[in-house]
Amino acid sequence: MRVILLGAPGSGKGTVAEGLRSACGFPKISTGDLLRAAVRERTPLGLKAEAQMGQGGLVDDATVLALLHERLAREDCRGGYTLDGFPRNIAQAESLEALGASGPEVVFDLQVGEEVIFRRLTNRRTCPSCEAIYHLINRPPKTEGTCDVCGTALVQRADDRPEVIAERLKTHHAKTEPLIARYAAKGTLHRIDGGRTPEATFAEVKKVLDAVMGETGPSRDRG
Ligand code: AP5
Ligand code: MG
Repeated sequence: MRVILLGAPGSGKGTVAEGLRSACGFPKISTGDLLRAAVRERTPLGLKAEAQMGQGGLVDDATVLALLHERLAREDCRGGYTLDGFPRNIAQAESLEALGASGPEVVFDLQVGEEVIFRRLTNRRTCPSCEAIYHLINRPPKTEGTCDVCGTALVQRADDRPEVIAERLKTHHAKTEPLIARYAAKGTLHRIDGGRTPEATFAEVKKVLDAVMGETGPSRDRG
């Protein structure tokens, strides 16, 4: 099974992907996380990506695809995975289709209003080590400023400043929203109200996945 999470910045893609990892064992493949790791490690790809990310635009397809292919080749992706933030434009969707993965594909568009998005992103804190996601009000860590999972000091993402959030939203409307029609036409799209609690949002995602699994059966679920 390949789960694709579409949705604007702050719509809750990473949070749903974390839930799917816990509930279904699907690894969370976030191109944003892969890029941020490359930036932290100061790799040539990371150095190239940093400026594009800081301005709220997309990183070029070749860089993203190089990181993604390397990640998908790992053993843990054989039984299915969640793509969080990929594909981001039509060319990336075509590249994904060209991979020719077997098993069902389920696409979720998480729909959330922009006012909510700004509140979520300005209050978000993340772990730079294990990428766990927190919110100062909705999902605070047990110990202030410290990751519950690995004990690392939490940080605010460089692109969670209001002016960069506005640019990320513009990029989303222009480049990523056209994918909604593409997946709707394929019949794999499910629209989810992502403005509710994390639990209610996740429950609806899980219900859809259980229905798809029921139709296709685990023996066909080879990712
Ligand atoms: P990426 O890291 O993918 O960022 P994004 O798409 O902007 O999305 P976010 O991670 O900001 O939000 P999210 O939807 O994951 O929400 P989250 O669960 O954290 O990409 C960053 C950059 O990298 C891009 O701008 C681009 O430059 C580059 N990039 C990445 N992929 C690329 C690609 N494929 N091609 C080219 N460039 C690429 O939740 C947000 C907050 O809300 C958290 O605090 C959370 O706790 C809280 N929250 C979540 N759900 C709920 C809820 N239901 N109720 C209340 N609070 C909630
Ligand atoms: Mg995310």
